[in-house]
This record gives sequence, structure tokens and C-alpha cells, in this order.
Amino acid sequence: MNRATEITADDIDVYSPDRYLAGIPHREFSWLRDNQPVFWHAHPDGGGYWVVSRHADVLAVSRDHSTYSANKGFVMVDDLPPDILGRAQSQLLGMDPPDHGPIRRAVITHFTRDRLSAMQPKVHAIARRVVEAAREKSEADFIEDLACKIPTAVICSMLEIPEDMWDQIRHWSDMQTAGSDPDLGGTAQDIEKASMDMGLYGFELATERKARGGDDLITQLLDSEVDGRTVSEMDFASLFVQLTVAGNETTRGLISSGMLELIHRPDDYNALETEPGRLPTAIEEMLRWTCPLHYFRRTATRNAELAGTSISEGDRVVMLYSSANFDEREFDNPMEFDIQRAHNPHMAFGYGIHLCLGANLARLEARLFFEEFFKNFATIELNGTPARIRSNQINGYKTMPVTLRPR
Ligand code: HEM
Repeated sequence: MNRATEITADDIDVYSPDRYLAGIPHREFSWLRDNQPVFWHAHPDGGGYWVVSRHADVLAVSRDHSTYSANKGFVMVDDLPPDILGRAQSQLLGMDPPDHGPIRRAVITHFTRDRLSAMQPKVHAIARRVVEAAREKSEADFIEDLACKIPTAVICSMLEIPEDMWDQIRHWSDMQTAGSDPDLGGTAQDIEKASMDMGLYGFELATERKARGGDDLITQLLDSEVDGRTVSEMDFASLFVQLTVAGNETTRGLISSGMLELIHRPDDYNALETEPGRLPTAIEEMLRWTCPLHYFRRTATRNAELAGTSISEGDRVVMLYSSANFDEREFDNPMEFDIQRAHNPHMAFGYGIHLCLGANLARLEARLFFEEFFKNFATIELNGTPARIRSNQINGYKTMPVTLRPR
């Protein structure tokens, strides 16, 4: 990549979703890191927001949750209408302490390494089933036929949701993610309806499980009491939306964008196919490189200073994960995709109290998927140009036509 000396502050537009159609806008991000690491960016609503592009500063904002609130304006750069903001604030991702801790602790006990090891056979069976089904097709869309089938199936299977609901739940989740891509999201009303329907379904699930009693994850969550606070049916409804939406497009992105990098690099592909034991380190590099979410936002609760720049109370602050992951100050040769990278403190899962709750689950899904894929297919080739999602937040593909040759 050329060092971006020829661009100026006036050329910077990291808001427009069109700027992401060719991938991470590395030239702009590099200019920002070098020249204005805390940059005031215009917003189409007439206001503006701070763009934080260096690794150390993204880390600092993530850590300082009392100055940089996830609750005040939620985590999207666009301000939400009050009724939608209210609902978003009741999600874990949109809570600040003291509300955040008890709910997070109630859920996190179900996502520990031990719990996930116990889950492994279930996730493995799903990965195997999805990959084996694709053996029927020599021409496939890697996204639709492979990557997108896994995350919803895994979370629904964890929650013991009947299989005939899985496609509906995936549809509801999909509707809520890529609203800025005309091929994917629906109208604002469609998105709102999907979120309401999904919340209602989550509430019904909680009510039904509570009445039935038992030992499943939902009942355990509803029964749990942390710091004197019990997870209510409403809490669960909101968690349900979040668990299914947060792990859907992101894990799909990790698997599909990760595979695309391997298709472009046959040596890496062969190395991992021959020695799948190297997958965990390679998956960390896929996370750094493909960073499925470009950013999350915080709102300043007081006047503060960040890397020498004054931030005012109420300002929007955007943490650009997909820039932090390429910061030359933190990573050796950041523009090199290195499946053996030893020092890799990427920010793909965020950091601090909101660090992705599904991080280890996503890693597990990706590893088992690639292992099954290598076992089942002798080759994979692109047979068309993959199309990116038009979004300034979701970094991934909506279609990826491939030719598969089963073993
Ligand atoms: C590659 C896949 C994934 C990526 C890149 C990803 C990314 C992220 C990021 C960046 C955050 C926010 C961190 C912050 O604000 O500091 C987050 C939070 C969260 N993620 Fe993920 N995620 C992935 C998979 C999953 C999965 C599979 C689940 C479901 C089990 C999940 C559930 C959540 C939840 C519930 C939160 C909110 C945690 C909190 O606020 O305490 N994510 N994720």
C-alpha cells in the first residue's frame, strides 16, 4: 500500500457506505492514524463525530467506560429515534454499569471454555451437516450455502429452539443488520417489525420455558440471580435478540472472508489443510484482517482529552476497529496476512466490559467449519466476483460464487 501522503483532511469520508464497497478503505485509515488519530468527521444529520483510528486510542476508549458510555446514545454512529433508542439501551451491548455487570455475569457463565468444550460435539455436528449438504452442489454461493447456515443453527441449538424456527430466526436477524444495503435490509419499518417480532418470540420462549421448568440454557438463565438481580422474561427477550443478531452476520463474515483470503493464498490454504492444528492462530489473523465489524460508538459522559484532543460531553466517539487492526504502531507488517502471526492483539471483538461475549464460540465455529470443509472438499475456486455488503459497519460479503470439488 502507498503511504497516503497525497490525500488531505477534505478527502476523508469514512461514513459513506459506498466507501467500503471495495473493502477496508486502508488509504484513508492510514492517513487518519498518521495525521489526525482523533478526527472530527461530519455526519449527514448536520452534526459530527470523533473517529478514533489508532490501536492504543481505541483501547483507551474501550477501557474507560465511565467517560465513554455505550448506553447514552447506543453504539451506532447514527442517532436513533427515542423509542428505538430506549429498546436498544436495554440490550447488554447498550448498558453501562451498574446495569451491565449482573446480566453479563449471568450469561457469561454459559460461554466459558468448559461450557464450550461441552458444546463442541453439537457445534461439530452442525458444521458437519452444513458442509456435507454442500457436497451435493458443485456450484455454490459460499455465503448462502455454507457460511450463513452455521451461526444461527449453533445459537438456536444452544437455546434448544425447534429446528423449524431456525430459518425464520435467521431471516429476522438478517433484516436487522445491513439496512444500508438495498439488496439486504428492508425498509425502516421492516427492520423495526423484525426486531419486535423477534423480541416477542424471545419473550414467549422465556414464558414457556419458565412454566415448563427443566435444565435447558434458557430456564437456567431465567432462574439465575446475580448481585441480587434475577434475569426476567423481558431481560431474556432482549438477550435473545442480541445473542442471535450479534453472532449471525459477524461469524458468517469471519468464515467467508477468512475462506476468501485462503482462496487467494493457496500456500496458506494447503498449510492449514495439511495441518489443521494451525487453525487457531490462523483464525486470529483472519479476525484481524477481515474484522467483521468496522466500528462501535460511544458517547462522552463528560469533557475529556483523548490523545491530545478535547472531547466534549455528549460528543459521539467512534472506535474504528478495522483501522486499529492495521496500526503500524502495534503490529509488525500489518499489511501482510500472516497465518503464523505471534503478537496479534486485534480488536475484532472489542475490548473492556463489552468484550464480545461470543468470541470463543465464534472461534470454535470457525475452527470446526474449516476442519470439516478440508475433510470434505478437495478444492474450492471462485467462479465469479464476490459482492460486498454496502455498509460502514458490517465488513463482509453478501455473495461469493464458488466451484467446489468434493473428495
Ligand atoms: C466473528 C464473530 C464476532 C465478532 C467479530 C463479534 C464482535 C463483537 C464486538 C466488536 C463486540 C463489542 C465489544 C465492545 O463494545 O467493546 C461484541 C459484543 C457482543 N457480542 Fe460479539 N462478535 C462475534 C460473535 C458473536 C457471537 C457468536 C455471539 C453470540 C453468542 C456474540 C454476542 C455478543 C454479545 C452478547 C455482545 C455484547 C457483550 C456486552 O455488551 O457485554 N458475538 N461482539
